[in-house]
Amino acid sequence: MDDLEKLKQEKNALIIAHYYQEPEIQDVADYVGDSLGMALYAKKQKCRIAVVAGVRFMAETIKVLNPDKKILLPDSNAGCSLADSCTPEVFSYFLSKHPGAFVMTYVNSSLEIKALSDVICTSSNALKIASQIPADRQIVFGPDQHLGRFIMKKLGRPLILFPGNCFVHMSFSAKEMVRLKERFPDAAIIAHPECEESVLSHAEFVGSTSQLLKYTKESPKKKFIVMTEAGIIHQMKKLNPDKEYIVGPDLEGCSCNECPHMKLNTLEKVTDCLEREEPEMIVKPALAKAAMKPLQKMVEMTGSPA
Ligand code: 13P
Ligand code: SF4
Repeated sequence: MDDLEKLKQEKNALIIAHYYQEPEIQDVADYVGDSLGMALYAKKQKCRIAVVAGVRFMAETIKVLNPDKKILLPDSNAGCSLADSCTPEVFSYFLSKHPGAFVMTYVNSSLEIKALSDVICTSSNALKIASQIPADRQIVFGPDQHLGRFIMKKLGRPLILFPGNCFVHMSFSAKEMVRLKERFPDAAIIAHPECEESVLSHAEFVGSTSQLLKYTKESPKKKFIVMTEAGIIHQMKKLNPDKEYIVGPDLEGCSCNECPHMKLNTLEKVTDCLEREEPEMIVKPALAKAAMKPLQKMVEMTGSPA
């Protein structure tokens, strides 16, 4: 048994990783998944400690759902530019312009933003949740406008979109992607809904990271142009080594299709944080209580046993 495995057993700890983590972290994790999967998995486990190899909003959500577990985030600077750009002041001002609207918020947000919301969603369950909101109620969706626009089109009803975005997914070039498709006409374009509409409109399939992974497994296609953070290709290759995965092209010279926040975590930091049992995710009880309400609403509307 290697040292990390021994440490995990000694401390009754589990490692929960997002698909955008470095392959070497994914390979030592007890669970690898999307934001929803990570939270549901954490809730079901009996461990004392969960190391969340992801970004802060993921660790915060897991802490709120697991108040009795010690939640560790290997690098306390691992934020998310989408979540961090939507501050409570700006969001409150935005909401004040739409009084009475139902506030549906993407999980990629801080706990303060969640506390201002009626329901939380992930990219896996956003459509299911939005489709249950009464037709006579206006819906404010934030902070990611592209996911919001994607849902709006699928639903065929207007949403009031907060103008946030993820710079990693915004950095993909629709023009280069179309060129790539011309070179590989047999490849399927698959995209995360945080991409711009110009990318999504060309995609054969749009979905959360876990939905994209499932699609590559089930599709008869042998080649995919992957329009999301490149880390997920590791699991795609593991699941279907005989298929080919082409990293989505970004703007020339930018190399932004790797999330710098996610990539702050390293295997060394994962081991180190478990040894020291810090940095620990601490959440103020009043804030946890306020954020729990819309998270519970998500559970109610999706039937997920969170
Ligand atoms: P998923 O929930 O689809 O894994 O997305 C998380 C994320 O941060 C996308 O940028
Ligand atoms: Fe945030 Fe974008 Fe990184 Fe996801 S890929 S964690 S939305 S910055």
